[in-house]
Amino acid sequence: MTTGMGKTEPRGKFITLEGIDGAGKSTHLSWLADRVRAYGHKVVVTREPGGTPLGEKLRELLLTQSMQIETETMLMFAARLEHMAQVILPALAAGRWVISDRFTDATFAYQGGGRGLARDKLELLEQWVQEGFQPDLTLYFDLPIEVARQRLAATDGALDRFERENAGFFGRVRAAYLDRAGNDPVRMQVIDASPSPAEVKASLDIIIKRICI
Ligand code: TMP
Repeated sequence: MTTGMGKTEPRGKFITLEGIDGAGKSTHLSWLADRVRAYGHKVVVTREPGGTPLGEKLRELLLTQSMQIETETMLMFAARLEHMAQVILPALAAGRWVISDRFTDATFAYQGGGRGLARDKLELLEQWVQEGFQPDLTLYFDLPIEVARQRLAATDGALDRFERENAGFFGRVRAAYLDRAGNDPVRMQVIDASPSPAEVKASLDIIIKRICI
């Protein structure tokens, strides 16, 4: 698919949030959007899997139905293609900033690291769907898995198919995230999610200011 980037319009920026389940990224999402708005940008907040009517239906399946790893991976990318085509690329081309709760780093971390799917298969799908399109900035919320699991256990409501995975799975997911962050340190900023929310916000504020002005 074509990325459809306008030649003359000032393009918005694409920011993604990543982390293992329980790392607390979603807690900071609306605050982050408000910070970006405070710099005068129009902001679209969205999520993966999801972000479109079809994507939300795929999300429901992905979080509840057991399936082959390859099916899971292709559904993640199918939802992503719709998300890019219908939401992300049009918004960026119109000069809006897009903040997405997860994007392709999650596929490399969960399906690649967690489930063990070969990286070359993921790269093939990534290239097919994204044609080189990448976030301008990724905030990766890093937390030891024991702490993340304690936080998850303390939340209300039933755990989904991914949240119910064991510590070994989350250890591999975290290692894959850290590996990607180490290989792409400019795009992917590691946020220590262990301190208090106020301290995490202070770290985020510095990074957001840098990209917004
Ligand atoms: P959420 O809990 O952050 O809303 O994300 C839903 C789950 O989907 C989460 O456990 C991570 C998982 N996921 C993948 O396994 N691969 C992906 O590519 C994405 C976007 C999410």
